[in-house]
Amino acid sequence: MCWAALPRRREALDDREVGELWDQNADAWTLLARMGCDIYRDYLNTPAFLKMLPDVEGLRGLDVGCGEGHNTRLLARRGAEMTAVDIAPKFLRHAREKEDEEPLGIQYLAASGAAQPFADECFDFVVAFMSLMDMASQDAAVHEVHRVLKPGGFFQFSIVHPCFCTPRFKVVRDESGNRVAIECGDYFDQPPGRIEEWIFGAAPEELKRTLPKFRVPRFFRTLSSWVNMLVDPGFVIERLGEPYADDEAVRRCPHLAGTRVAAYYLHVRCRKSSC
Ligand SMILES: C[S@@+](CC[C@H](N)C(=O)[O-])C[C@H]1O[C@@H](n2cnc3c(N)ncnc32)[C@H](O)[C@@H]1O
Repeated sequence: MCWAALPRRREALDDREVGELWDQNADAWTLLARMGCDIYRDYLNTPAFLKMLPDVEGLRGLDVGCGEGHNTRLLARRGAEMTAVDIAPKFLRHAREKEDEEPLGIQYLAASGAAQPFADECFDFVVAFMSLMDMASQDAAVHEVHRVLKPGGFFQFSIVHPCFCTPRFKVVRDESGNRVAIECGDYFDQPPGRIEEWIFGAAPEELKRTLPKFRVPRFFRTLSSWVNMLVDPGFVIERLGEPYADDEAVRRCPHLAGTRVAAYYLHVRCRKSSC
């Protein structure tokens, strides 16, 4: 992954602006992800997420910020009855095209995680793969997830790790170019939405040159603020994960070696109380 942070904005991005940015990313993102260039997702994040996920067979699930639907389809193939929402119409178009090709019974809807078009207590579980940290109104989204979950239902999500992927972030390499440390800082300085430009590092050089870089809105929070955001509506945290690449993954994708230096991702599972 290449990071090039643009100068900070003074005003917060809102859902509309975030949706427009993701819509502009959607075609190139879908193309590259479906070519296998999202190696952090395919070799690390999603396998670890699924390992931590309880059995979902026969359950009614919601995927918030589904993108082109890759992970939603994996859950549908595990026997869950899936609904998915995203704020970017182009991502939904790509997801629906796949659903037409291989029907899995997934319903894709255009909506913000912060205003979900569902009745109270209608899902057994909710997931959000690498999307919450990109949302303009994270507190509202978490409250909505709590509202639409049935009592006793669980919410599992993955985010960029708040402690290591901070507003000031730089990979430190040794003389051979190996990643040996992360320089991170400005942890308590939480900009109200910042746009980062990068493209999948594993994309072919020619496509890196010709495709536009993604423009990704990021909303930073401290670890305590993430935890308190979950506890406030009444979630109980039951499992955390900080996945890193094993030897086999690094052999197949040397790019992943950096994930052994510090935790790039945080996975959380929490539960709504059953009464
Ligand atoms: C990094 S992508 C992850 C996509 C997908 N979950 C995956 O793992 O491939 C983040 C997604 O969050 C979506 N998103 C951002 N803000 C959102 C919001 N408020 N409500 C719903 N989706 C949102 C974006 O449109 C984008 O599809």
